[in-house]
Amino acid sequence: MALTFRQLHPHFAAEVSAVDLRQVHNEATLAEIRAGMDEYAVLVFRGQPLSDDEHLAFARRLDGRLHSKTGSSVLYKNRLGNEALSDISNVDEHGGLLKPDDRRRMYSLGNRLWHTDASFQDPAGRYSMLSAKIVPPVSADTEFADMRAAYDALPAEIKARVEDLRVHHSIAHSRQILGFEFSSHEQEALKGAIHPLVRTIPRSRRRSLYLAAHAARIIDWPVPEGRLLLRDLMEHATQPEFVYRHAWQVGDLVIWDNRATMHRARPFDDGTYRRELRRVTTLDVDQPSAVTSPS
Ligand code: OGA
Ligand code: MN
Repeated sequence: MALTFRQLHPHFAAEVSAVDLRQVHNEATLAEIRAGMDEYAVLVFRGQPLSDDEHLAFARRLDGRLHSKTGSSVLYKNRLGNEALSDISNVDEHGGLLKPDDRRRMYSLGNRLWHTDASFQDPAGRYSMLSAKIVPPVSADTEFADMRAAYDALPAEIKARVEDLRVHHSIAHSRQILGFEFSSHEQEALKGAIHPLVRTIPRSRRRSLYLAAHAARIIDWPVPEGRLLLRDLMEHATQPEFVYRHAWQVGDLVIWDNRATMHRARPFDDGTYRRELRRVTTLDVDQPSAVTSPS
């Protein structure tokens, strides 16, 4: 099946022509989607009424192994009963809206900081696939920033400065920015991971700034100096020219490449409106090829 991609932003993000992802099993179409990911980094599929099992199965077909340590499992039990299925909602186990001071809500508020999924783990997250089940009647959007375009736009001297730097990513760091407190047991379980600041994405060969609210310090640098550079880069990379804003419809499946983008949830009145999405994220380990090899 030949898919077409309608670009949504001058640098990246595309809406994909009508397709039922539950029916996509053939390698040629999966390869077209991977090639679309290499080019656009964010793909929007409308009208995908995926069950949880179909969602998990499609993620495996597209990109291999699933991530089951994307964060909250150390803190509380997953309402959905499967750590590979992240509960991106403001709902408790009885279906009620989370109270303002509920620890699950406080923790989820961290998604409103610019980040990339599971960068505090090794392996980190590669593709995240977020499926919209219930969306509020008011805007409750997600923004994405193109970290390849942001890298390309850096002045040559900054590119040289950041070339070989490595960064410690920690979810304790991003949550502490918001005043969220972890117990010593939780801190122990969430030590973080080290990743290069500049990555080359294997198939597309594009270079990308690998940043996130989780980025806590630059290895071998004095902490304040590293944080200042990270802040400057975050400011640069999240300028409006690099940002696409997605307005959700029920049935949307949005896939993003965590190596090539950052994202954040935008605020809405979550004490009034229900918002329920589910995310599956793949592990950033060896990846299927985007092109079908001649048989
Ligand atoms: C996520 C995430 C943002 C949102 O699912 O990883 O950060 O708008 N979501 O819910
Ligand atoms: Mn996220």
